[in-house]
Amino acid sequence: KKLAVFASGNGSNFQAILDEVKSGALEADISLVVCDKPTAGVIARAEAANIPVFCFVPKEYETKAQFEQEISAILQKNQIDLVILAGYMRLIGETLLTAYESKIINIHPSLLPAFPGKDAIGQAYEAGVKVTGVTVHYVDAGMDTGPIIAQKAIDISEEDTAQSIAEKIHAVEHVLYPKVIQELVTK
Ligand code: GRF
Repeated sequence: KKLAVFASGNGSNFQAILDEVKSGALEADISLVVCDKPTAGVIARAEAANIPVFCFVPKEYETKAQFEQEISAILQKNQIDLVILAGYMRLIGETLLTAYESKIINIHPSLLPAFPGKDAIGQAYEAGVKVTGVTVHYVDAGMDTGPIIAQKAIDISEEDTAQSIAEKIHAVEHVLYPKVIQELVTK
């Protein structure tokens, strides 16, 4: 199966998925990276791995439908089977949702439906919850609202800081996301 990874930032989840592809544990290819930020770390990671990047600047388009039509055409051309959102900081619109119905997944750093949206780790820390975690879910038109595929809980102790919680979350993400993708591509 052919994956497209959408990312806006560092790309550590992209890297974790790529590493599992290379090890053979994940039986899929990352055919494309889609990025909406020319300065994002994920671009250098993709280039180092010789993976094509489609980078675009949303402001240069009049509407979301316009850039999503362009993305959709590139996904079709590359025969993408599954779209993996990995820190893509943008809601997916009608155009892509219709073209890739039930084929777009996302990872979110909380136990949804708790703490959707930006800075979920900070939100959990401020709320003083004793358990948080990671969710992988199908994407719908809402903000972190689609059907849940998998979750993993993480305990928060008195000693934890926002920083230490973030480290635990990312470590869990990097194991969980490739595992869930492998389940989806082989089922
Ligand atoms: C991750 O915490 C993911 O859950 C959230 O955005 C972050 C992306 O990190 N959606 P990275 O760019 O993969 O390092």
